[in-house]
Parts: sequence; structure tokens; C-alpha cells
Amino acid sequence: MIKKKHHATIVTTSQASDDSRHTSAATVSNRVGSTDTTPGGSSATCAGVNLRKVAIIGCGFVGSASAFSLMQSGLFSEMVLIDADRAKAEGEAMDIGHGIPFARPMKIYAGSYDDLTDAAIIILTAGAGQKPGETRLDLVHKNIGIFQSILPELSSRNCQGILLVVANPVDILTYTAQKLSGFPRNRVIGSGTVLDTARLKYQLSQHLSVDSRSVHAFIIGEHGDSEIAAWSSANISGIPLHKFCEMRGHYAHEENAEEIAEQVKNSAYEIISKKHATYYGIAMAVRRICEVIIRDEKSILPISSMMQGEYGIEDVTLSMPAIVGKNGIETKVPISLNEQEIADLQKSASTLRQILDECKM
Ligand SMILES: NC(=O)c1ccc[n+]([C@@H]2O[C@H](COP(=O)([O-])OP(=O)(O)OC[C@H]3O[C@@H](n4cnc5c(N)ncnc54)[C@H](O)[C@@H]3O)[C@@H](O)[C@H]2O)c1
Repeated sequence: MIKKKHHATIVTTSQASDDSRHTSAATVSNRVGSTDTTPGGSSATCAGVNLRKVAIIGCGFVGSASAFSLMQSGLFSEMVLIDADRAKAEGEAMDIGHGIPFARPMKIYAGSYDDLTDAAIIILTAGAGQKPGETRLDLVHKNIGIFQSILPELSSRNCQGILLVVANPVDILTYTAQKLSGFPRNRVIGSGTVLDTARLKYQLSQHLSVDSRSVHAFIIGEHGDSEIAAWSSANISGIPLHKFCEMRGHYAHEENAEEIAEQVKNSAYEIISKKHATYYGIAMAVRRICEVIIRDEKSILPISSMMQGEYGIEDVTLSMPAIVGKNGIETKVPISLNEQEIADLQKSASTLRQILDECKM
């Protein structure tokens, strides 16, 4: 539902904060106590979950690439892989496991739902992928069905970890996960536009010949065709984007911005038409989101989560920058948007709400 209200309200998830995650009766072995090594130094202890354990449900291109990048990250010492095709999960566990001697010790195995009750993060990559010419939204019915079979397995086991939804259409499936899991809001995260934002930073870094980590810009809204490049707040290490562009000899601001936003929006289609799937970029995005949670980094990421009146939008999940840490989403960050961006964001929300309505969600 889109409310006619044009200001951004900061909504913390404190009202939804999940105390049960810290006091759960779901006793598990092999818990890790304070593991935090962030410069900020706050303890990342979470009783009820093993902070060194991650689970991936769905071991296709995206699930296995994510498993591979997480194995190399050193963040976890245990990784459970689940797939409807058990042999696929076993094969991926073996193949990725054979790389462990070149990384850090960890246990990787094909498991069952009983193995993931204590996982700190449960990554949902199960679902059909986009076929050439198919939009992410075309996948909706197929993948909601898959989620309807998976989520009861998690809630019936009182899983205390954070759900990270990656399968597409990610915003619709994050909403589905939120509704069907019974998990508190802070513990249901969609990868949202974290990948699109990385693509935007990459394209801008190429255009301006500057380190992509010095680019501060977000793609917000739907992870898909109605996504918005939030140009009005974009900057290069604090220098307004237009000024930096001129420093680098680019003056056709509107034309360049439109071209770059289109490239970002169409990246997935282009990659899929060339190699049938996208998985390395998203695998790095998954790794980054996991790192932020496990290290309690309180980084600002454009993840997909439930809107609660921000910019007049509610009861829809889409991407807005939010502070993410050990308890998942801490608070959304209301970046400044101009009127057009707000209108586009509301339109993106309406598109998603319409699909949810069609799916009776
Ligand atoms: N969020 C993003 O930015 C992003 C980026 C790329 C891909 N994706 C999405 O990720 C999803 C996976 O893509 P892919 O290329 O890995 O697809 P894929 O077809 O290679 O893999 C899907 C896997 O899910 C498994 N699966 C299906 N139903 C299952 C169930 N009920 N339980 C357990 N496993 C089940 C299949 O056996 C298969 O191994 C797609 O929806 C795709 O669109 C998202």
C-alpha cells in the first residue's frame, strides 16, 4: 500500500528486535561465543546460533558460487549445503571441499534441514533461474511455490539464524519469507540491490577511472526493471558526482547517467543472453552481506526489507540502504532523494505490490 506521505521516516527494527535469538531454548552444540574482531569492538555473541556456521539452500549456479566464495572468505568453519537434488549438493560439497587446503580449515557437507537449526545465516538460493527473455517477475509463481515448501521446514525447527533471500524475484520472495517464516523483521534480509549497486559502482568507476570503492551511490527499489539509480545523493568520496565528472572531462551528465543506469539495469539480461546465468557478482554480494552480519560491521547496504511507512511506502519489501549487523537489519537509512526519485520509488513499490496482490500475499 502506498501512502501519500513524502517524507522519509527512520524506522528502527528495535520494536521487532529479536530477543528470542539470544535466549532461545533451541540448544545446540558447538556454539561460538564472542568472536567479534571488528575495530569497533562490540561483542558479536549470539546464543542460539553458531556464528561460524552458514547454510545454503539451493546449490545451482548461485548457491555453489556463493559457497565457493564463502569457503575462501574464512568467515565460517561449517557450511551445510541443501538441494532438492541431493547428489548435486554432495558433488558441490566435495568439489568446494577440495579447495580447503588452499584456504582455511572448515567442514562442508550436504545436509538436511535438521543440520541447519543453529546456522547463523541461512541463504536461500533455491529456485529456477531467469531464462533468456524472461523477466525476474516471470519467475514469481514457480519460486513462491518452492519457498512454500522450504520455509515451514525452517520455522518448524525454530531456526534462530538470519534468512538471506537471494532467489528471484528477490523482493517478492523476501516478502514471502517474511510472511511464511514467522521470523522477526530484522532477521529477514533480501540481497536486494546490493548487486545492482555494485554494478553501478563498477560502471561509474570505469567511466571516471577511479577506484569503485571511492564511489558512493545506490540503486534502490526493486531488484529488477523498476529499480532506481539514486543520482541525487551520488558522490565520489564526498565530491558531488557532477563536479567529479567534470574533473575527469565528462560534461554530458544526463546522457551519461541514463546510459549507465540502463547498463546496470540490463546487466543481468546481457549476461544471461551470453552465458545463461549470472553467479559470480551475486556470490561476492552474498559474501559481503555475510561478512557484515558475522563481523557485526554495521555497514550500510541496500538490502531488501519490509517498508514501514518510509517515503509513504508500506507492506512491500524493496531495497533501501540500511545498517546491517549481527542481528540483521538495525535501522533503515533515509538517504536524501529528490522528488522524481521518490516518485519513481513509489512507482517501483506499486509494481511490487501489484504482483503481491496477484499472488494474494
Ligand atoms: N538476487 C540476485 O541478485 C540474483 C542474482 C542471480 C541469480 N539470482 C536468482 O537465484 C536463483 C538461483 O539461480 P541459479 O542460477 O543458481 O539457478 P539453478 O537452476 O542453477 O539452481 C537452482 C537450484 O535450486 C534447487 N532447488 C529447486 N527447488 C528446491 C527446493 N525445494 N529445495 C532445495 N533446492 C531446490 C535446484 O535443484 C537447483 O540446484 C534464481 O531465482 C535466480 O534468478 C538472484
